[in-house]
Amino acid sequence: MEELNNISLEEIKNIAKNFTRTNEFAHCMAMYRCAIMEIETKLKVLNEEFSLQYDRNPFESIETRLKNPVSIVEKMIKRNIPLTVENMERDITDIAGIRVVCSFKEDLYRLAELIVEQDDVLLLSRKDYIVNPKDNGYRSLHILLDIPIFLAEGKKHMKVEVQFRTIAMDFWASVDHKLKYKKEIKCPDDYALRLKKCADILAGLDNEMEAIRKQIDREN
Ligand code: GTP
Ligand code: MG
Repeated sequence: MEELNNISLEEIKNIAKNFTRTNEFAHCMAMYRCAIMEIETKLKVLNEEFSLQYDRNPFESIETRLKNPVSIVEKMIKRNIPLTVENMERDITDIAGIRVVCSFKEDLYRLAELIVEQDDVLLLSRKDYIVNPKDNGYRSLHILLDIPIFLAEGKKHMKVEVQFRTIAMDFWASVDHKLKYKKEIKCPDDYALRLKKCADILAGLDNEMEAIRKQIDREN
């Protein structure tokens, strides 16, 4: 991105530097790191328990990330949100992110359900792009969670975005992401159509692989 709301990338970097210099910002980011640890541990515990119960590990991988300060500031400027830590915590919901990749759709839905059911976890929003894929073919289940972090001075509620995907969905999303950063792409409509087709083929593979697994489970 070269420019945003008439502000150059260079200026955005400067604004970000000033905004993130405060203790308040650093403290807030530390809280997001704690929130990520809490949810990641919960997911890993569920994975462990699940593997005992069903004799298979639902996870292929789990990745966590904290949104970088420049991206946070870019998003706030784009949405005309005044730069304060309070506004950031309220309006930017993807600062703490976790991505869980599973082999089967059934497993990812089960994991999402089990985490939402936990006493201290609150579901703030749920976007099911598996049942309702985006027009470009993107599929994943996104849930936004609220989790309390217990501190000496009391507890603080933090937001964590969790994305659940199958390996096939993750393959598509990571290639799609890489292609978006390629410059000078010609005939974008054709590419979009072909990418959408790939997403649909992958969704078909997911269904077939899951059907095979279910049959094996039934017959063995
Ligand atoms: P953001 O402002 O980007 O967070 O979008 P949003 O608030 O409308 O949320 P949405 O649920 O649409 O997407 C959030 C995240 O999902 C993105 O940051 C990506 O990680 C992922 N995502 C959504 N759409 C796509 C897509 O078309 N391709 C890829 N590769 N990832 C996507
Ligand atoms: Mg996002």
